[in-house]
Amino acid sequence: MADNKNNSLPGSSKDNPDHDSETNPVSKENSSLSTIVRRFKDSVSLGKTHKFWESQPVGQFKDIGDSNLPEGPIEPPTLLSEVKQEPYNLPSQYEWTTCDMESDETCREVYDLLKCNYVEDDENMFRFNYSQEFLTWALRPPGYYRSWHIGVRAKSSKKLVAFITGVPARIRVRDEVVKMAEINFLCVHKKLRSKRLAPVMIKEVTRRVHLENIWQAAYTAGVVLPTPITTCQYWHRSLNPKKLIDVGFSRLGARMTMSRTIKLYKLPDSPATPGFRNMELRDVPAVTRLLRNYLSQFVVAPDFDENDVEHWLLPTENVVDSYLVESPETHEITDFCSFYTLPSSILGNQNHSTLKAAYSYYNVSTKTPLLQLMNDALIVAKQKDFDVFNALDVMHNESFLKELKFGPGDGQLHYYLYNYRIRHALRPSELGLVLL
Ligand SMILES: CC(C)(COP(=O)(O)OP(=O)(O)OC[C@H]1O[C@@H](n2cnc3c(N)ncnc32)[C@H](O)[C@@H]1OP(=O)(O)O)[C@@H](O)C(=O)NCCC(=O)NCCS
Repeated sequence: MADNKNNSLPGSSKDNPDHDSETNPVSKENSSLSTIVRRFKDSVSLGKTHKFWESQPVGQFKDIGDSNLPEGPIEPPTLLSEVKQEPYNLPSQYEWTTCDMESDETCREVYDLLKCNYVEDDENMFRFNYSQEFLTWALRPPGYYRSWHIGVRAKSSKKLVAFITGVPARIRVRDEVVKMAEINFLCVHKKLRSKRLAPVMIKEVTRRVHLENIWQAAYTAGVVLPTPITTCQYWHRSLNPKKLIDVGFSRLGARMTMSRTIKLYKLPDSPATPGFRNMELRDVPAVTRLLRNYLSQFVVAPDFDENDVEHWLLPTENVVDSYLVESPETHEITDFCSFYTLPSSILGNQNHSTLKAAYSYYNVSTKTPLLQLMNDALIVAKQKDFDVFNALDVMHNESFLKELKFGPGDGQLHYYLYNYRIRHALRPSELGLVLL
């Protein structure tokens, strides 16, 4: 599930520990209330019981630090004939529906449910607004299963009230490539919260994943559950600081004026790197090679083939943008960067209804310094009228965040594996996986 998937969401960069508020107006002192509240909640949640998650094959809090437990699957697969054949029971007023994401009408219903009920930041100022084109892209990768796009409807009105999805992926953990489901878009209508519907949704998607003979999953959340394989932070780079400040996403730094702030974040009009251009279909083999080679150094990363790269990285308007550097001399493809488009609704602002955010996706530098490559990514994102560029501290992102004037957000994103144990938690820089 996406960023802040809870609080780093549109992830207001409001609390900026160890960030220089003199130069970065997005920064604020460490002690902001929401940071304190979040840290408190996280610490409480470590001691909290998780009636549902404690019954599942996931790493448990009590096992943290027990290095006798083996890495790998927690439970072995069962025979397919032993997988429950009927869906789990729902409360009697509700029924399961498989959402046909090829149907514009169904896609619209899913879009509307998420637009009104999906992830908000801690202060309820922003809510993710995944576009229909984005949902179609995210939910229909190569080999996707229609049966993994699961909805719940009210029996009487047929209104869609809950949703959860999986898509298939091959994810490498150390030397092992594991078939997994990437679980995303878990959403229960606001009026149906706290009724233990989420555990039923999770069990049902798990059952349908098992029916395809897949026994592991990867997912992210803004909440602490048993137990994260790593915890990442979102960073935000203002592209349109005035709007970000106007809508309360960021604040003017101490001793900063609006005009100094605008100047601070100003970017050149066009990318600096010779040979920097849009990725095209003919680049798929070269980008696949570049990316596979790069991702091989991380402990957990997707095992992309050319079909995956074509789907996930070939530019799709208003969904995903990818650029590469083609050497003007040798025509070799040496570097690559990409970001996806995920706007957020701005709740209750008179002047602005949408925050246009770009999210760093996969980036590979071999010849162009990563800092310069990402600065070019910021420049093209600005040209495309994004308000903010977000990046997690995964892979080598830490090496450019501060220098390129990203400020830390106030939310965290926890990564999880289902039915796969990792002995020690990873550092974010050991993770080569970005989920949408
Ligand atoms: C997330 C959401 C579906 C949970 O539903 P809910 O009505 O609040 O909670 P329920 O009573 O149905 O279920 C609670 C159980 O679900 C678990 N849960 C809550 N959020 C979860 C998440 N994001 N991922 C996995 N499990 C989650 C809880 O930990 C709890 O299990 P536990 O007792 O073992 O701890 C709902 O709050 C929602 O739609 N929120 C907005 C969208 C969102 O945040 N989606 C998740 C994105 S990662």
